[in-house]
Formats: sequence, structure tokens, C-alpha cells
Amino acid sequence: MNTILKNPLGGNLKDAQIKKIEGFVRGFKLSSLTYKRIMQLLHEEMNSGLSKTTNHMADIKMFPTFVRSLPDGTEKGKYLALDLGGTNFRVLMVELNGKDVDIQSKTYLIPQRIMLGTGTQLFDHIADCICKFVNTHDIMGEKLPLGFTFSFPCKQEGLATARLSKWTKGFRCEGVVGEDLCILLHEALKRKGNIDVEVVAIINDAVGTLMSTAHSDRNCEIGLILGTGCNACYMENLEHVGLWDGEIRNPKQVIVNTEWGAFGDNGCLDFIRTEYDRELDTFSINPGKQILEKMISGMYMGEIVRLVLERLTMEGLLFSGVDRECELFVRGRFYTKYVSEIESDHDEFFRNTKQALDELGLEGYSSEDCKIVKYVCTLISARAAFLSAAGLATLINKINKPNMTIAVDGSLYRFHPRFHNLMCLKMKELVRPGLKFQLQLSHDGSGKGAALVAAVATRLRDSKEISVDC
Ligand code: BGC
Repeated sequence: MNTILKNPLGGNLKDAQIKKIEGFVRGFKLSSLTYKRIMQLLHEEMNSGLSKTTNHMADIKMFPTFVRSLPDGTEKGKYLALDLGGTNFRVLMVELNGKDVDIQSKTYLIPQRIMLGTGTQLFDHIADCICKFVNTHDIMGEKLPLGFTFSFPCKQEGLATARLSKWTKGFRCEGVVGEDLCILLHEALKRKGNIDVEVVAIINDAVGTLMSTAHSDRNCEIGLILGTGCNACYMENLEHVGLWDGEIRNPKQVIVNTEWGAFGDNGCLDFIRTEYDRELDTFSINPGKQILEKMISGMYMGEIVRLVLERLTMEGLLFSGVDRECELFVRGRFYTKYVSEIESDHDEFFRNTKQALDELGLEGYSSEDCKIVKYVCTLISARAAFLSAAGLATLINKINKPNMTIAVDGSLYRFHPRFHNLMCLKMKELVRPGLKFQLQLSHDGSGKGAALVAAVATRLRDSKEISVDC
């Protein structure tokens, strides 16, 4: 038994019942040796993604982003930023003035019919939201430079040219894969007729997160997202980026968007996947894809917990006499926010746990039931935290600098009560001795980060430098 995860079952639960429950959740407890094996596989996959000859076969695409310098804190000006990646779309106006950053933003919902509709519908919706924002913020007619945070895997051909390589998370809009996003946005804005923007950069949210923290911390080398999806990026030496087609000039580095959520798509993680992971994958909108992401991120964690609870209930080990019509048996109904809330219960009253179970329509449950529910949550979130730690440790060992900051953003990391601590504990075990690191919560990477990239790009363009890489 892992010492970090002391088994909190016991009390009134009978040994035989505990043993049976353990049998159904054993697969979530992985040994240190297993995490080391995962790191080795991840390292190999990353190298294969970076190399020109093997990239086409690699699951982890390691996209060079054309972002080559970090901000230095002198950035100035007013920028528009767009943030698309979860269930919401945000439009922001960001004013940079040295280290001071003023952000005004508005969030617009993206209905599911649009997430699963056509690209034209999606971009028309985005254009509508931009129009509303520009009108209410009195910036009609000002052609502000725009940074677009687009949080899906994209092949970049330049800082402002990106083609979607595939959809992830809850999106599957027809006619967008392979297209230039900047053109799709411009065409949609043209259809609206009355608005003109200048897209100067398209970036991933992990890149925005790195940039946002690097604005005040020069040691920041890695950006990590633990939210609806999961991904990481890092600053890499150009000589290691076999895929790099651009100029080799100073600074000889580029941020690489790993897209590590796809790790395991070729089956190399099958040895750690549980029956619940497989079932979740089968019923997802992208079966066989984003295998690592499905074991970590907020879009899936609640559903894995639900599948385990459903199984334990069917086996007669939990919620005896439960009404089979209740929402515990409905796919997608156990939200990941419940996991964070349940794990925030620290006494025998189980206030948050009871609230979640009530919302699911469960009745007549006991304290023992609450204990089991919480235990299942802790196992699944700990596996997610340890897998994230193994991923980060692989990058830290690869970068091999004595001291570095990792910028982290995303709802899972922000709201889960133990994620940060669990990650740090595991990383201490996995990072090469002598390398120091700190995990730093990043603030509004998607908004501020996009504006910073836009600021540096505009500055370079205005100073008539040859390339728009920043
Ligand atoms: C996407 C990444 C993104 C991550 C976090 C993943 O599904 O593929 O591009 O960075 O989610 O939003």
C-alpha cells in the first residue's frame, strides 16, 4: 500500500467488504517503478515526436510554436485576446504597461450543438461574440492586434498561421481539421461585415500559461494545463527540434507544444489502463484518442469515479437498496467538481459528499457509503496527480537546468484540495537529484499570455525585424 494513500476505509466496514472493494480499485494504485517506466516511454515518444523522420508515426506531436523569446516585462499596449478551449469562449481586452496588466473580459457559452456542429457555425458564433464585445467596450473601429488562444492540437506554420490537426475534449466541428484558423476567423468576421481585426498570434493555452508566468519569472521553462484537458509545453533548444524548418538564429530556442494528452494512443499505456478507463474511452466522442488526457483531466475524472461507484453498487458493496433510476447510473452525471468537493471533507460529517450524493438523487446512504465514495475519489485523483508528476519529471530531467519554475493553470489544479501537494511529493521522487523546481499557479495564461505574445510580435514587426517569430 502506498504510504501517501493511507487506506481510510475501516471503521464499521467489515474486512471482507474492504477486501472486495480493494479488488475493484487495485488498478489505480501504481508502484514507483511503474511511474518510472511511464517516464521512460514518454521520453522515447517525445523524442520520436521531435524528429523529422519519425514525427509522422509519433502520437505526441511536439509542435514547434514559433514563440522563441519570453516576455521581459517591458511590453506595452492594448490588445484583444480570444480564448477557445473549454465549454466557454472568452473575449478579452488586455492592456499591458510593463508589469501592470489590466484585463477586461466577457465569457460566452458555446452550446453543445455548436461544439458538435460545423466549423462555419462555430466561427460565426465566435464572430458574433467578438462583435458584441467590441460594441459594448467601445472599441469599434480600433483595429487592435489580436492574440488567439486556441487550445487544441495545431500545426503552426508561423506565429499567426496554425492548422488544426485534430479536435479534442468536447469538440468535433466538421470542416476545420487541416484548415488555417486565422482564415476561418477572418472569413467569419467578413460575413458579419462590420469588424476588422489583425490576428498577430495563435497560441495554445499551455504556451499562454508559460508566457504569463515568464513575464515575472525568468526561470519559467514549462507550462502545464490541468483543466478540462491536459497538456504541457516547454522551451527547447532548436538543435533538438528536428522538425524545425525556420531560421536558426538567436535565440536558438523555441517553445514546443508537446500535446502529451495523446500519449498512449498507440497502446503503450495499456498496461496501466483499468476496465473503467476502457469503458470511458469506448463511450467518448473520440475513442482510442487522448488516452493520457482521459486518465488525468477534468473532462473525464468524474466519469471514472462514477463508473467505479456504479460497479461497486452493482456488486452490492455500496449504497445497498439504491434506486436504479437515480442519476448515479447516468453517463457524465458525476461532475469532476464533486471529486474536489468530496475530497475537501475532513470530518465524519461528510457535508460535501452528502451534498453531491443528494444532487445525484441518492437516498438512505450511510456514513460508510460516504467513506467509500471519498476513498474512490482519492485513488483516482491521486493517479491523475502522479501521472502529471511523471510527465513533468520527464520534462524537467530532459531540460536539465538546476532550477526551474513550472507555470500551472486549469480548474483541476486550482480547485482540487490535494493535487498540488500530491504532484510535488511524486515529483521529488522522480526528478533527478540536484534539480530544483517549483510549481507556480499562473494567472489567466490564456488571456494575458495571448496578449503578451501579440505584444512581442507587434513590437518586432514594428521595429522592422525580418521575421515575426517572437
Ligand atoms: C488539447 C491541448 C490543450 C489541452 C488543455 C487538450 O485536449 O489537445 O491543445 O492544451 O487540452 O486545454
